Amino acid sequence: MLIDSYDRVVDYLRVSVTERCNFRCNYCMPEKPFTWVPKENLLSFEELFEFMKVSIDEGVNKIRITGGEPLLRDGLDKFIKMIYDYEPNIDLAMTTNAYLLKGAAQKLKNAGLKRINVSIDTLISEVAQDIAGKDVLKNVLEGVDEALKVGLKVKVNMVPMKSVNANEIIDVLEYCKKRDMSIRFIEYMENAHAKKEIQGLKSTELLELLSTKYEFEDEGFDGSSPSHYYRFKDGYRFGIIEPYADDFCKQCNRIRLTAEGQLIPCLYFDEAMSIGEAIKRGDIKGAALVLKEVVRTKPEKNRWGGEDSESSTRAFYETGG
Ligand code: 5AD
Ligand code: SF4
Repeated sequence: MLIDSYDRVVDYLRVSVTERCNFRCNYCMPEKPFTWVPKENLLSFEELFEFMKVSIDEGVNKIRITGGEPLLRDGLDKFIKMIYDYEPNIDLAMTTNAYLLKGAAQKLKNAGLKRINVSIDTLISEVAQDIAGKDVLKNVLEGVDEALKVGLKVKVNMVPMKSVNANEIIDVLEYCKKRDMSIRFIEYMENAHAKKEIQGLKSTELLELLSTKYEFEDEGFDGSSPSHYYRFKDGYRFGIIEPYADDFCKQCNRIRLTAEGQLIPCLYFDEAMSIGEAIKRGDIKGAALVLKEVVRTKPEKNRWGGEDSESSTRAFYETGG
């Protein structure tokens, strides 16, 4: 078992398979980066899988594939199958923008993928185009339908922004509720890469808006999820993620791997250690030592806001958020 210095069990690994993306979301990657990581610096799926095995053997039981956009990488279903065949009980999930999902969902499901998270920030084509930098909505919604059809569980993320999509919060929630997909509203996280003019909606504003139409109960946190949950009388629940808070850090169980092999103990700090060299040498023991060291150095909590504020300069598209 992997246990950090604050007695938290680390059993959740998020693996970014590429930082590249076919969207240019205003809150994430509005401009194409000046350079991408050269393809030769990426770990191959075989190399990544070697590290998945190390992590699973050490106690990881949940793996989420992220990006950038993971479906831009060829052979993703084979990577998923490698993990599934090694340990079918792994909670195997992926975060995707769903643009390429329609043609891929069945293959991913057959390979062993169980769940996906998708962003639906709007149900209006023009607004989707404004947010993502291209006309994406039709593909996204068709991708989501296909995923549901093949039996993947789908969770939706929405980043509510003033003067952009804040007026659609109820519409997007209803869209999800009708399909029995849970929705999480993520407060916009300021970062150096995002469009400067964005103004995110705070959770208090969001709750106020939702309470004009619904009655719900505060359920608090659930397990290790950073989401604060609220439940309607009919049982449907939605979540809110407040990235500036640190009350979810106590239950944090996750570490992150970039496509280049940097292992990151906390999203909010720049610190990372590479497992790349060890894996490329076939040095499994060495990779396991790096993993343990990263877990050992996992910070107690983030330091966003406040006086000694500190946040990572790394882009979310490198770490998969
Ligand atoms: N603030 C909040 N959420 C973000 N995401 C990406 N960038 C940001 C940001 N700046 C979220 C999107 C997407 C997920 C991959 O990360 O909602 O669903
Ligand atoms: Fe948008 Fe996700 Fe791509 Fe970032 S990684 S630009 S949030 S689709």
